[in-house]
Amino acid sequence: MTSYEEAIARCYSTWGKTYYEEYYGSNSPYPPVHTELLRSILKENKVNNLLDAGCGPASFLRDVIKEGWDLYGFDLTPEMVEEGKKVFADNNLDPERIWKGSIIEKSSFRIPVGNTPEFDAAVCGGVLPHIPEEHDVTVIENLRDSVRPGGIVALEARNQLFAMFTMNKYSYDLFVEQFIRPEILKKNLGENADKIDEVTEQMKFQFRMDLPPVRKGKADEPGYDEVLSRTHNPFILRQQFEQAGLKNIKTMFYHYHCVPPMFAGSMGGEFIPQSIALEDPNDWRGHFMASAFYMIGTKA
Ligand SMILES: C[S@@+](CC[C@H](N)C(=O)[O-])C[C@H]1O[C@@H](n2cnc3c(N)ncnc32)[C@H](O)[C@@H]1O
Repeated sequence: MTSYEEAIARCYSTWGKTYYEEYYGSNSPYPPVHTELLRSILKENKVNNLLDAGCGPASFLRDVIKEGWDLYGFDLTPEMVEEGKKVFADNNLDPERIWKGSIIEKSSFRIPVGNTPEFDAAVCGGVLPHIPEEHDVTVIENLRDSVRPGGIVALEARNQLFAMFTMNKYSYDLFVEQFIRPEILKKNLGENADKIDEVTEQMKFQFRMDLPPVRKGKADEPGYDEVLSRTHNPFILRQQFEQAGLKNIKTMFYHYHCVPPMFAGSMGGEFIPQSIALEDPNDWRGHFMASAFYMIGTKA
């Protein structure tokens, strides 16, 4: 493992047994709407088998056992792999079909024991945020290469453009780093370069720079916001899918927010139900009001 992978694995090490209940269970802060989204795409494409790259404790996989597909998965974090194997064994599935691996390593896409099929679909949810930018294309290519011609690739990302809606420090970062790009502007302005620092300082007063709060670990392990947890621009990820030769590309948004999250408390219990009511993977507002999306493509 690289040092950043070690930090990620430590971050997830305390989540093996509780992750499913926290994010897929009845008390999860938001229902796992992506499960139905993915399931319907996989059913539409009549898959018979499926690889979940970065499968956690077999969370999505356990929810599709009843479909009768041949299920496979791997994950970076040993505690997640252990739990995933247990879930498989408890459901009379072969625990060898869950193994330890990293999505940036091509060899991880092969089952360590026995033959690896050409998969009908490869899904990858919640993992890309933890991958350094220079490996994004490798991840897309690894997913593409693991499926048969005509197979489906579904890669989930945190939506960078959601910051257009949140009015917090993520918005400030988007405006400054992605739109304004001070370093380039400073070069163009020469001796007036410090004007940009004035502008970016003044801009801080337009956003809630104290929000959102940093998510810490449960014990002494680093928390989600203390390890690499990037967001992705859906327009750029789409281009990278195109450049990887994937076809029929679709951006499908989910986890909508009916108002910016900082106002959730003012909604008197209506924040979650009204947000769920907005869930539509194809609504253009998803570019800004949804915090996550799946990029879906078909291998030529
Ligand atoms: C947010 S969880 C999502 C788990 C699962 N995909 C789900 O949807 O429930 C992220 C998972 O990615 C795993 N992970 C992080 N970096 C990884 C990598 N480079 N390769 C494989 N898995 C990785 C973590 O161990 C963790 O289980």
